[in-house]
Amino acid sequence: MWQQGEQPSTGRAVLLDSFGGPEVLGLREIPAPQAGPGQLRVRVTAAGLNPMDWIMTADADTAARFGLSLPAGFGTDYAGVVDQVGDGVTGFAPGDRVFGGALSRAVADFVLIDPAEGIAANEAHHTPDGVDDRTAATLAIAGRTASAALAAVDPGPDDTLLIGGAAGGVGVFAVQLARIAGARVIGTGSATSADFLRDLGAEPVTYGDGLADRVRALAPGGVTAAIDLHGVDTVHAARELGVPDDRICTIATQVDGVSAANGANAAPGALEEIARLVAAGRLRVPVAARFPVEQIRDATELQAGRHVHGKVVIDL
Ligand SMILES: NC(=O)c1ccc[n+]([C@@H]2O[C@H](COP(=O)([O-])OP(=O)(O)OC[C@H]3O[C@@H](n4cnc5c(N)ncnc54)[C@H](OP(=O)(O)O)[C@@H]3O)[C@@H](O)[C@H]2O)c1
Repeated sequence: MWQQGEQPSTGRAVLLDSFGGPEVLGLREIPAPQAGPGQLRVRVTAAGLNPMDWIMTADADTAARFGLSLPAGFGTDYAGVVDQVGDGVTGFAPGDRVFGGALSRAVADFVLIDPAEGIAANEAHHTPDGVDDRTAATLAIAGRTASAALAAVDPGPDDTLLIGGAAGGVGVFAVQLARIAGARVIGTGSATSADFLRDLGAEPVTYGDGLADRVRALAPGGVTAAIDLHGVDTVHAARELGVPDDRICTIATQVDGVSAANGANAAPGALEEIARLVAAGRLRVPVAARFPVEQIRDATELQAGRHVHGKVVIDL
């Protein structure tokens, strides 16, 4: 095993002794895990929160569906620096900056990754120069999900795309990627999201009753595709506006007749492409709030409130 620098014997980790809301999250000092054969150990510097973090740990049945048992860890998106490399690992060395997904164990000083598994829940990618760790820690789930949702409707310069829930973690990627693809974007949010959405490149429209009428007023020429990043309201509005089902996609729930995208099924290379766009300054990640790991409960409460604009990041 190769390792870098002084090796601490313990590290902090957010752990749960029971499943439940933010109140069950606790920060503990535990023995530092050691990289075994085929594994990397990453010294995590930042973790990005997603709804799935608190959804999968909210109750025992959901946790079991994700293969979690107690005591469980928390958080999936991470960024940091490789500090141990187990026998048999190629392509990584101590000191490499990396980011990716570590299913429900990312909010910790150290995570072990098996890069050869090649799955989104257990992965490391080199962080490009020009992408700081806090930004890198927001990319994996939301970036891939936005990419998968857009791939399902394939927007281009001839399209007017309606994005429901455009100001959230997935929305900030979806709006910008659709704009890069050349589409006109109309994004739903509350009235408080309007300026934020405009800055991202979307034309804002408020969600709620009468959505289809408000969109029609903004785009009398019609809407040609839609992705619903929140629930079903945007699907209903899109259908009312005449968008065919094969150009409508959901991510948060399933609707008969329209495709449901899953970030884990994004095209190979989608995440790396997003990181390259960030490094090139063509895509930015608005961070709504940053919290030290000691405030994990506050951070999770904010994220779970469902009105975050952009991403919530934990500093380690
Ligand atoms: N399928 C997958 O692979 C996958 C992956 C990631 C996420 N998801 C799911 O997709 C959903 C979005 O994820 P996310 O990370 O973007 O969540 P998020 O960051 O928590 O989304 C927050 C956003 O939702 C907006 N919002 C709240 N109520 C809304 C409403 N009634 N209509 C439209 N927008 C509303 C808020 O806008 P305002 O503040 O303006 O109200 C806020 O900007 C979640 O349900 C998540 O579980 C699925």
